[in-house]
Amino acid sequence: MNVLVTGGAGFIGSNLVDALLARGDSVRILDDLFSGSKENVDPAAELVVGSVADEKLVHEVADGCEVVFHIAAHRAVPRSVENPLGTDLANVHGTLAVLVAARDAGARRVVSASSSSVYGGAEQLPTPESAPLIPRSPYAVSKLAGEQYCRVFAELFGLETVSLRYFNVYGPRQRPDSAYAAVIPLFIDALTSGKRPTVHGDGRQSRDFTFVTDAVVGTLAAADAPGAACAGRAYNIAPGYSHSLLDLLEILGRLIGVKPDPVFTDPRPGDVRLAQADPSAATRDLGFSCSVGFEDGLRRTVEWLA
Ligand SMILES: NC(=O)c1ccc[n+]([C@@H]2O[C@H](COP(=O)([O-])OP(=O)(O)OC[C@H]3O[C@@H](n4cnc5c(N)ncnc54)[C@H](O)[C@@H]3O)[C@@H](O)[C@H]2O)c1
Repeated sequence: MNVLVTGGAGFIGSNLVDALLARGDSVRILDDLFSGSKENVDPAAELVVGSVADEKLVHEVADGCEVVFHIAAHRAVPRSVENPLGTDLANVHGTLAVLVAARDAGARRVVSASSSSVYGGAEQLPTPESAPLIPRSPYAVSKLAGEQYCRVFAELFGLETVSLRYFNVYGPRQRPDSAYAAVIPLFIDALTSGKRPTVHGDGRQSRDFTFVTDAVVGTLAAADAPGAACAGRAYNIAPGYSHSLLDLLEILGRLIGVKPDPVFTDPRPGDVRLAQADPSAATRDLGFSCSVGFEDGLRRTVEWLA
C-alpha cells in the first residue's frame, strides 16, 4: 500500500515509518525537519522536506496515497505558550491542508495525531473520550481544532478520518537535547550524567506513559479498522495506568543505579495535573491494547539513550 507519513522524521513518526516498511508498505514522508532529523529516516522511505502548511506541496505528496498518517506538529505546550501563531500554522492550518489534499487525492483514510491535552486535566479518571474537552494551552486548542476538522471531513466528504489522543509517548528516538524535551529523556539524561533532574511542581503530577511501539500499534490499528466503527472519531491511545513523576524517578534511579536528588521548581503554565486514559473504546473499535510494561519500556529507553 502507498502511504504518506507527515512528521515521519520525528520521534513517533519515524518509529511508525519503520513499522510500515517492515510490513511492506511504500512510504513517502513529508517533514520540514523543524524538530525531526534525517538520521531518523530509513533510506527505504522517500523523504520530501517541506511543510504541511504548504498546500501545493501537500497536494503533490498526497497524490497516489491510500492512507495518510498525519503525525507532523509543533508538539510542546510551552512552545505554544511562547509562540501560538507558529503552533497554529503548523497544527491547525497544516492539518486542514493535509485533509484537503487527502480528500482531493482520493485517499481512503487519514489517521491524525491528537493529544490527551484536549481534556485539559479531566476530573474523571480514567478519562473516556466523552469527557469535557477544555484545552488549556494554544497547543491543546490546536489539537482539538485538528480533531474537529477531521470529524467534519468525515461527515461532509466521506473521508475516513481517525484522530488519536496520544498520552505522553516515550521511547527510542525521543531526544533530551531540545529546549522542549519531554520528561523521560530529560530525567534519563540527568541521572546518567550526574546532574540533578528538574521537577516542575511537587512531582506528584501523573501521566499515562505510553511506549512508542504501543503508540505505533494503535496508529496502525486505526488505519486498518473498519471505517463504519471509527470514521470521524477520536480515540485514547494509552495503557490506562498512570505514574507520578516521583514514581518515574524512583524506577529510573533503580534501572540506572543512582539515587535521584531532584530540584523542584514552579509548575509550568498550561500543564495538567493528572492524566489517565480509559482506552476501552480503542480496544472495542480498533482492536488495540498496549503490551509493553512501564519498567520494560523505561529499560529499553535507557538502553537506547546510553
Ligand atoms: N510525544 C508525545 O508524548 C505526544 C503526545 C501527544 C500527542 N503527540 C503528537 O504526536 C505527534 C508526533 O509527536 P512527536 O513526539 O513524535 O514529536 P516530534 O517533534 O518528534 O515530531 C514531529 C515531527 O513533525 C515535523 N514537523 C513539525 N512541523 C512541521 C510542518 N509544519 N511540516 C512538516 N513537518 C513538520 C517535525 O520536524 C518532526 O519531525 C505530534 O502531532 C504530537 O502533537 C505526541
